[in-house]
Amino acid sequence: MLVVLGVTGGIAAYKATAIIRLLTAAGHQVKVVPTQNALRFIGATTLEALSHHAVDPDLYTDVESVKHVELGQSADLVIVAPATASFLARMASGVADDLLGNTILATRAPVLVAPAMHTEMWQNPATRANVETLRKRGITVLEPAVGRLTGEDVGPGRLPEPEDIVAAALALAGPGDLRGKRILVTLGGTQEPIDPVRYIGNRSSGKQGLAIAREARQRGAEVHVIAANVDFTDAFAKVTRVASAADLEKAVLASIHSSDALVMCAAVADYRVDSISDVKLKRGHLGERLQLSLVANPDILALANATIRRENLRCVSIGFAAETSSGDQLLSYAKGKLESKGCDLIVANDVSGGAVFGAEANSVTILAKDGALATASGGKAQVATAVVDALAKLL
Ligand code: CTP
Repeated sequence: MLVVLGVTGGIAAYKATAIIRLLTAAGHQVKVVPTQNALRFIGATTLEALSHHAVDPDLYTDVESVKHVELGQSADLVIVAPATASFLARMASGVADDLLGNTILATRAPVLVAPAMHTEMWQNPATRANVETLRKRGITVLEPAVGRLTGEDVGPGRLPEPEDIVAAALALAGPGDLRGKRILVTLGGTQEPIDPVRYIGNRSSGKQGLAIAREARQRGAEVHVIAANVDFTDAFAKVTRVASAADLEKAVLASIHSSDALVMCAAVADYRVDSISDVKLKRGHLGERLQLSLVANPDILALANATIRRENLRCVSIGFAAETSSGDQLLSYAKGKLESKGCDLIVANDVSGGAVFGAEANSVTILAKDGALATASGGKAQVATAVVDALAKLL
């Protein structure tokens, strides 16, 4: 998709860099159109380097290509972030005295505007009227976030988080094929306590699960994320934070009744410490060898699938198979898990050498019950699209 990103002259202009990164990581082309004042806050060089496209806000250069019309007509989506009070006023009046103003008038693509300004300016009747005018015309104007502003003051007026801007914008242009669906996504890795200080963990970063949750949200789903020991700032319909496999089990089983799909991306510890010490274990007391007794954790995915079948729930389930094998061996392990755990789909992932953990790229094979195969590789956002495509077909 080609996204035109308008940037106007506010202190939050530097956050455009995060928006460009999120859009390009999701496989979109970004053409940045800053206003002259935006370039007082952020350099064209930065915007060009990140977007891989030339940045020139001047309406009167390269005139022969009629670039305002070309940009407006070719855009699949237009985002303006941050949008100042002055820009909202010009946009509401249809003023087209620079490239951004012209591009917006020349586009038929969905337009999303993310305002950022001081609370007094946001609440001023002039700004309220401009926002209302724009919304009546079908422009999506996000509510600013509440929080710390440029100075010491706090209130509504902060630019919403880049992840939320991108998600809302892509949802406008997206297929909307998951609208009305409730998707439960588990992500991250559980931690099994040994004592109040230590735990047994794993190397899952939660990035692939987060990419799947974002993709589902962008396609209109109501997404409930159960996050095991992963931090993120995205706003989802619901976020439940868990630490251990026992916490995760409770959260999953409490939520499958109200879900149309379960995507079990979390890396769950197969064992937990049999008896957790409530005081710190002391090396001085333990000596040179420590033996921990571990007991098996329940298989949460298998339990969830058994509940779905027993109670006849309308919830499809996707599991992940992390294997240190490749080729036929990888597919055979994954198929075994698909059957033994009772999933509708399984996503087979070669994690040999641990390179995939925390990385931006991934490569997977998606297996269905009937053996149909799809493969996906590239950024985790691209892999997420393939997984959600497969999920959407089941829903
Ligand atoms: N899973 C789960 N509960 C567990 C272990 C795994 O729900 N106690 C889920 C994972 O979230 C994943 C799938 O089962 O969706 C497969 O996890 P994986 O770690 O690949 O396999 P294991 O079941 O742990 O089997 P093995 O250790 O033999 O590879």
